[in-house]
Formats: sequence, C-alpha cells, structure tokens
Amino acid sequence: MTERLEDIANAMVADGKGILAADESSGTIKKRFDVIGVASTEDSRRDYREMMFRATEAMTNHISGVILYDETIRQKAADGTPLVELIRQTGAIPGIKVDAGAKPLPGFPGDTITEGLDGLRERLKDYYELGARFAKWRAVIDIDTAKGVPSATSIGSNAHALARYAALCQEAGIVPIVEPEVLMDGAHDLDTCFEVTKAALLKLYAELYAARVKLEGTILKPNMVISGKKSGRADRAEEVAEKTVRLFRETVPVAVPGIAFLSGGQSDEQATENLNAINAIGPHPWKITFSYGRALQAAPQKAWSGKTENVAAAQAAFLHRARMNWLAAQGKWSPDLEKAAAAA
Ligand code: 13P
Repeated sequence: MTERLEDIANAMVADGKGILAADESSGTIKKRFDVIGVASTEDSRRDYREMMFRATEAMTNHISGVILYDETIRQKAADGTPLVELIRQTGAIPGIKVDAGAKPLPGFPGDTITEGLDGLRERLKDYYELGARFAKWRAVIDIDTAKGVPSATSIGSNAHALARYAALCQEAGIVPIVEPEVLMDGAHDLDTCFEVTKAALLKLYAELYAARVKLEGTILKPNMVISGKKSGRADRAEEVAEKTVRLFRETVPVAVPGIAFLSGGQSDEQATENLNAINAIGPHPWKITFSYGRALQAAPQKAWSGKTENVAAAQAAFLHRARMNWLAAQGKWSPDLEKAAAAA
C-alpha cells in the first residue's frame, strides 16, 4: 500500500502532537554535549537519543514525528534494535534532515545559501528504504538591516532551493518540511521580523507553486514573529501571537495542512507560552504546533548529563516539556501547569 503524502502530513500535526527535532549535526550535538560535560562519541550520541526515543509516555502521547540526522537513522540501540524501529513502536514517524548546511552566499556578505541538492534524489531513495517518511531542509536568513541583510538574492535563492528539495521529496514519497528560518539573533524589532519573514514566505510559496509541489503534502516550519535577541526587547506573547497569525494569514495558503514552529533560541517556557498564545486566538485554517529542538531537549539533556542513573529523570523532563507543548498546540497551556510540575 502506498502512503499518501497528505495522510503523512496530516498525521505529523494531528491531535496537538508535535515534532521532536533531534537532527543536530555531529558538530551541533558536540556543542550541546560540551554544556553538560559529555564527550560526543558515536556511542554517547546513540545513548542520548535512545534515552529520548524510549521515553514511551512522551513519545506516544505527544510526539508525532522525529527528525533524525544521517548517523542516527542508521544506528541501532544498545540491544540491537534499530533506533528507527524504536520510534515506530511509539507510533511516531521517522524523518530525516537532508540539507548539507548553510554556506556563505558569494557576493553577499552576511547572507547564506543552503546546500545539498546534488545527489539528493538518490539519498532520498536510501532514506525511504531506511524508514523516513518526511524530511527537513533549513534555509537560514539573518537580519542586519544596516548591511542590507538579507538580500533579495538570498531570499530568492533559498526559496528556489527549498522548492527543488520539496519536489524531489514528493517524488520519493516523502513529505518535505520546508523551513525558511529567519534568525532571532539580530538587533531588529518585531515589525522588521514581520517584514523579512513575509518576504521569505511569499517567495517560498511562489517557488513551491512554480515547482509543482503539492502543498497538501508539505509542512511549513517557520520562526515566530519576534524581536531579535540583541534588541533587548521582551515581547508579550499576545503581541507575538497577533503578528505571527496575521503574517500567516497574508502568506500561507490554506492547502498547507500544518505549521510546526522551530524554537530558534527562545527559552523553553517562552516557546511554549508563545505557541499557546497563537493557538488561543484560533481557530486557524492550519494546525499550528511545534517542531522544537532546543526547547524540547535542553531540560532532558541537563537532567541526563551522560549518566545511566539519570535516564528516568531525563525522560521525565522530556515528558514534561512535550506535554506542555502538546497543551500549547491546543491553546490549553497555563503557567500554573509549569509551577505544579516544578513542585511535584
Ligand atoms: P530549534 O527548535 O532548536 O530552533 O531547532 C529546530 C530545528 O530543527 C532547526 O532547524
């Protein structure tokens, strides 16, 4: 039986569930492990991810899919079970990061272009065989208005690459997550983030249309409309929600089944509070949920710290964040739920 792309996409955003972005490259996971004092080896990366995928309650009730890195999709648990199989046993769908990272865009200092299209058709076939039913490609768009960053060329080139990637995924029976991430690292305000994200999304959907990508079989992974970290501004969740929803209404076709946010450097609780505020002003024509990396994993990573005796505590920390975000994806989260868990 062939699985329909739209069924996979719908399952990825169903029932308040969200996606665990566990696709850190070996370089990035090393940085995360440095913080908790754990050496990054093939085995420690495996142990850490196995601990997460075996967190049965979190995975079964709150996680619809997991984005893996090339190494992880081929790894086996300590008892020999493929990690992909552990994920499937919880009912979650395995996915795979397929881009080769953002590289400097020649002629445009401060802009990047994401690489990885060459040979992608063959790699997607391989990933499908390994069990992946969705993929991720991340474009990275910084904001530095004084320097003319991002340029129209960078927004256009990245949208074009995302569309070529998405078309190849659908040909292979894989749902593309399209991720044009506007970074929150800059000194910009909320309205600048709105304008840059709007330009990126308009261009993205024009390119997806031109590439004959079926929007019903895609998921959008965007940033929220939020002030840059260096601006020193702390946005109210209601303002983030109002502007983010307004932006999507202007740019994201209703044929898209779901929007799953990246956390992008927001604190754990901020990422949850903002997602909740966005869903609280619904109903929306798309499901709106999470596809968090750091905002789901920072707490369990700290609790784990590389020690077998901490596995249960780490799984409990993961369950808590997954549950909070699952509630937020339904607009049912409140701050006292965080406090109640801290007291437990
Ligand atoms: P963060 O939630 O840590 O931003 O990561 C999500 C992701 O997959 C970025 O590509």
